[in-house]
Amino acid sequence: MAQLHIPIKKVVDQSYDIEIGFHLVDVLINDLKSDLVTGVNKYAIITDSKVKDIYGDQLLEKMKQQGFDVELFSFPSGETSKTRHTKASIEDLMLEKSFGRDSCIIAIGGGAVTDLAGFVAGTFSRGIPCINYATTLLAAADASVGGKTAVNTPVATNLIGVFHQPEKVYIDLATWSTLPVRELRSGLAETIKHACLADEEFFVYLEENIDKIVSTDGTLILNQAVCEHIAFKNCEIKYSVVEKDELETNLRQILNLGHTAGRALEALSGYQLFHGEAVAIGLVIQAKLGQRLDFLLEEDVNRIISLLKKSGLPVQMPSDISHESLLEKMYTDKKVRKGSIRFVFQDRIGNMKQFENSHYSIPVDEALILKTLEEC
Ligand code: GLY
Repeated sequence: MAQLHIPIKKVVDQSYDIEIGFHLVDVLINDLKSDLVTGVNKYAIITDSKVKDIYGDQLLEKMKQQGFDVELFSFPSGETSKTRHTKASIEDLMLEKSFGRDSCIIAIGGGAVTDLAGFVAGTFSRGIPCINYATTLLAAADASVGGKTAVNTPVATNLIGVFHQPEKVYIDLATWSTLPVRELRSGLAETIKHACLADEEFFVYLEENIDKIVSTDGTLILNQAVCEHIAFKNCEIKYSVVEKDELETNLRQILNLGHTAGRALEALSGYQLFHGEAVAIGLVIQAKLGQRLDFLLEEDVNRIISLLKKSGLPVQMPSDISHESLLEKMYTDKKVRKGSIRFVFQDRIGNMKQFENSHYSIPVDEALILKTLEEC
């Protein structure tokens, strides 16, 4: 019998820049002309049917005018399109158009687009570069940064994917003015999540300023300074976590605050609940559960609920989803270990609870979860 040892050691620098500003398409094109990504001969813009009309076609035309070899691929907008089937269709179209290893993907859109296009980039020709151009607050706050890519499956959201860091991320704040209010609010849920888990000062800032983004009656205000600040803080908080634990061995789980119940609710609602809406309810469930476990005080829970309400987000269990079905769905969560549902918890507001052996998630008893759901 022969045995070979194959030494493969990797030291990689996957650092990249995030550009936050208004109307960044020309900045992107200038970056491409200045070799943001080297060795690329062909670009694939991936977007959805809604973003295509507003920004995708415009980027395509501008890139063509500048002499780039570029094609646009779009899929029907919405989380229900974020599937293996859509990914395969785009890959087939790219292959038909002779895309190969010397290609680069530009994902322009919201979270569904950056998740799906990033996954295509992570596996096409065993991995090609990807640039994210975020056109929603949700993509700016979460999906476009951090390198997680995935598609949904009938069982649960984001179960199949790869870690694939982008070459650069553009957060175009001007695009937020074209967002339906529900989409914008969905992004605010991820923003509130970041404040809850890492930064009480930012939480207070949101309490004082969130109505300068969207008023309680649903009018988009989009105060420029507030938009810039929340975009910056989201990236800063997310990155302080991702740089320490890119592959979610432990610390990165804290970015899943509110997601144990949230992701399950999103899937159970058949995506009628937007991701951020489901996360908002998930944050409340986590906070109430945390209060029962003495990690939060009643006043902390009330502040979280008030801020979510002020943002126009739901804070109660939808009446058409049973507690038992939600509990069952939680078993599809990626944190489940040895058959136990696990949660990450806030430690008051602005910190996360750390448990035995420095773990951030702990198993939670089914009966306690059910009791808490009854309260929600
Ligand atoms: N959305 C959670 C994470 O990026 O880890």
